[in-house]
Amino acid sequence: MSSTSVPQHVAIVMDGNGRWARERGLPRAAGHKQGAEALRNTVKACREMGIRYLTVYVFSTENWSRPEGEVSFLFKFVQHLIGQELPELNRNGVRMRFLGRIQDLPQSVQAEIRKAEEKTQHNQVLTLNLMMNYGSRAEIVDAARALAVQVKQGSLDPEQITEEMLAGHLYTADLPDPDILIRTGGNFRVSNYLLWQIAYSEIWVTDIYWPDFTPALLKQIIDEFGARERRFGSIDNSFGSIARAA
Ligand code: IPE
Ligand code: IPE
Ligand code: MG
Repeated sequence: MSSTSVPQHVAIVMDGNGRWARERGLPRAAGHKQGAEALRNTVKACREMGIRYLTVYVFSTENWSRPEGEVSFLFKFVQHLIGQELPELNRNGVRMRFLGRIQDLPQSVQAEIRKAEEKTQHNQVLTLNLMMNYGSRAEIVDAARALAVQVKQGSLDPEQITEEMLAGHLYTADLPDPDILIRTGGNFRVSNYLLWQIAYSEIWVTDIYWPDFTPALLKQIIDEFGARERRFGSIDNSFGSIARAA
């Protein structure tokens, strides 16, 4: 595969951990643990393929509605994983960023997040964006508020607000938009993920549950991505001009 067909930015909705566990008669936590293993393998595969940005949905603003036991397990587990994985990710040049309403997470999780971001901030091989307490609508609201403050202060004229300016106030401000959005677990929905940023992303939904996701499947998706024609609202060049057709 030529390196030009490798996408720069892959975003994933890692769904299906609970169903994976239920099918095996295991507690949901076992699905999350196996899901962490799938993420580790995916990060490695992305590095090897030359993908520059991997953005994964870890905890949504709507996931607070889960039973308290699952929510607290997830936070403890993420905290544990950051500590466990940090040295190797750092050695391999992976930069870790946590995007979302981080300020509303438990203090101990915030401390671990700050440490990981600080230690890996200069790494350049792959940027791993972990979306935590993330909701796309909340993100757009936060951006709108930031612009409204500037308008109120008199430093911004509402007429001057552009798409770039709004994008520049999202948590993803300095990232290119995802080329591909992958959702595991078989559901055809976006669940409040990157609504602005996926305007022109290629979408893949696979029935595979996240804990069963493999580097081989990622490679297959990326090969197919290379074959898809992205038109960005334009037309296939081979159609020729409209004048000739008329
Ligand atoms: C995704 O798996 C992980 C999180 C949302 C934290 P789920 O826990 O949603 O698994 P299913 O969808 O119930 O199978
Ligand atoms: C999306 O999965 C959120 C994460 C993967 C973190 P959900 O399981 O929360 O989404 P729904 O409930 O199927 O929409
Ligand atoms: Mg789910």
